[in-house]
Amino acid sequence: MSDAGTLLRALTARFQAAGIDSARLDARLLVAEVFGVEPLYLATHPEIVVTAQQQAAIEVMAARRENREPISHILGRRGFWTLDLLVTKDTLDPRPDTETLVQGVLDRVGDRQAALRLLDFGTGSGCILLALLSELPNAQGLGIDQSAGAVAVAAENARRNGLDVRARFQPGNWGDDLAGPFDVIVSNPPYIPDADIAGLEPEVACHEPITALAGGADGLNCYRHLVPEMARLLAPGGLAGFEVGAGQAEAVAGLFSTHGFYDVRITQDLAGIGRCVFALR
Ligand SMILES: C[S@@+](CC[C@H](N)C(=O)[O-])C[C@H]1O[C@@H](n2cnc3c(N)ncnc32)[C@H](O)[C@@H]1O
Repeated sequence: MSDAGTLLRALTARFQAAGIDSARLDARLLVAEVFGVEPLYLATHPEIVVTAQQQAAIEVMAARRENREPISHILGRRGFWTLDLLVTKDTLDPRPDTETLVQGVLDRVGDRQAALRLLDFGTGSGCILLALLSELPNAQGLGIDQSAGAVAVAAENARRNGLDVRARFQPGNWGDDLAGPFDVIVSNPPYIPDADIAGLEPEVACHEPITALAGGADGLNCYRHLVPEMARLLAPGGLAGFEVGAGQAEAVAGLFSTHGFYDVRITQDLAGIGRCVFALR
C-alpha cells in the first residue's frame, strides 16, 4: 500500500524522465481522476491511502501518458471556454489559443440576442461553434468536418452541453454542397507547414489526426480554399474569422483583402502572437 504523496512523486519523476513538461500537473490529474477528487485536494491530503485497485488503474493511464498520449485523450475530456468536451483520437485537442477566436467573434457580433446563422469549417470536437452558441442564445450553427469520427464527437458534445437543439454537425469537404447565407463563418483549419509536422511534440505528431494539422507546403492551403468559400457563403456584412499559425496572420489578411473583404483585423493571443484574422464580407 502506498499513499497519494509518494505515488505523485514517483509518477512525476517518471513523466519528467519521459520528457513531459507538465509532469507534476499531469501526475496530479491522473491520480485525482482515479480517486474521484479535485486535483487540488491531493496537494493538501498526501496521506490518502492508495488501494491496489487504484494503483493498477493509475498504472494503465500512466503508461499511456509516458507514451506521450495527450492527457485529454486519457481522461477523455478537455475544458474549453465554459464547456466540458469529449475528445478522442479523431479530434484535435482544443487549445486555449482557440478561445481567442471565440472571444473575437463575440466582440464583433454586436447584438448577442440576434438570431445569427453560424458556420464552423473543420469543427473537430465542435469547440468553437459550441462555445459561440453557449454565448449567443438565439443563434443556430452548422459544423462541418471531413472526419465522420469528429462529427460524431461534436454531436455528442452538443448533447452533453444542452446545445443540440441549435447545433447541427455533418460530414463534408469544406463548403462543398453548402448554400448560404450565413452571418458568421469561423474556422481553425489545419495550418502546420507539412515539413514542420515531424518536429512537433509527440502528443501532437503521434496522437492527433494528421488531417487536423497538415496545411500544405507553407501551411496556407486551407486559407486559400476557404476565403473564397466564405465570400460565397456569407451574407453582405457577415463576419469571417480564422485562427492562424504564428507568422501567418499578414498573409491571411492579404487573402481577405484580395477577395473583397473589408475591415480586416488581426488579433493577438495571450502570448502576443497574431492568432486570429477577422474580416467583413
Ligand atoms: C485544426 S483542426 C480544428 C478542430 C477544431 N475546430 C478546434 O479548433 O479544435 C482542423 C479540422 O479541420 C478538419 N478538416 C481538414 N480538412 C477538411 C476538409 N477538407 N473539409 C472539412 N474539414 C476538414 C479536420 O478533420 C480537423 O477536425
